[in-house]
Amino acid sequence: MTDMARTARLLLAGDKGLLAMDESTGTCDKRFARAGILQTEEARRRYRELILTTPGLAECISGVILYDETIRQAQADGTPFLKIIEAAGILPGIKVDTGAKDLAGHAGEKITEGLDGLRERLHDYFAKGARFAKWRAVIALGDGLPTHACIDANAHALARYAALCQEAGLVAIVEPEVLMDGDHTLARCQQATERALRAVFEQLSAQNVALDGVILKPNMILPGLASPAQPTADEVADATVETLRRAVPVETAGIAFLSGGQSGERASARLNAMNAKFKAPSAAAPWPLGFSFARAIQQPALEIWAGKDSNRAEAQRALLHRAQCNSAARRGAYAPSMEVSGS
Ligand code: G3H
Repeated sequence: MTDMARTARLLLAGDKGLLAMDESTGTCDKRFARAGILQTEEARRRYRELILTTPGLAECISGVILYDETIRQAQADGTPFLKIIEAAGILPGIKVDTGAKDLAGHAGEKITEGLDGLRERLHDYFAKGARFAKWRAVIALGDGLPTHACIDANAHALARYAALCQEAGLVAIVEPEVLMDGDHTLARCQQATERALRAVFEQLSAQNVALDGVILKPNMILPGLASPAQPTADEVADATVETLRRAVPVETAGIAFLSGGQSGERASARLNAMNAKFKAPSAAAPWPLGFSFARAIQQPALEIWAGKDSNRAEAQRALLHRAQCNSAARRGAYAPSMEVSGS
């Protein structure tokens, strides 16, 4: 087994999961603005310090995904964040795409950029201590969308990124996200997701990417946020696992879902339903079904913190609570009653 395959296994082992804290400066500032927090580098540093020093975090979290700014930062006493992560027994990862930009000739669609100079950046991140990387592609649903052009261009970029990651010794988290924006049905999300996943795995194979060093970070199969239909957690679990089974090769190291704008409670309930019904090793889901959430873990903590040190301990408790709920969901042991005593 290669080091990458071992790392991928470690990230998905037991009932732990990934905490995505890799918001770009722009995204982080938008979330700060909504929560009434000053948008400065120091505020972002303090927030990331709050997350990384949460007592007990490593009991539920196997890896954290950092942003370029964060991987270079340190806590107030000067200890580099990477040292804190390492001391907790958590693996550091890094977002390496440079964002989704308008796809020329295709109104309403995006292509993720960042391949230029990526080889050098990946080697630098590995030398700093990163052991995995992430690249996010976004696929919008709408009238006539997604187009083949969008799906193919993003799948190709994801595969080029993954091949470069493996050359540098990093596990590649491959994230083709079908967005929740819109009023589309669950069936349309399912169709688009299957198309996107098939294209991604075709391109990964064309670029000779070893799938045991790849973690897929997909969306769950859900109706659009503006759709009046609200499926049960079991319906989401059935549709999601069915889609993965059709499109994801068994050799893939595992699945770590994004949350995509679902509430923390819904994301936990849906992940729980998948593991309660299909936990690996099962014929339906041969891969571990894990999580790599940002908003579904961080949101309550961010709102409680609100930029004030006096709220820090309570915010950390809220963060840990969501991490624990998702860890329970990996065992199929999450119950809504866990929310009563939690923050
Ligand atoms: O790329 C997106 C993040 O890593 C996951 O974020 O769980 O808020 O969708 P989310």
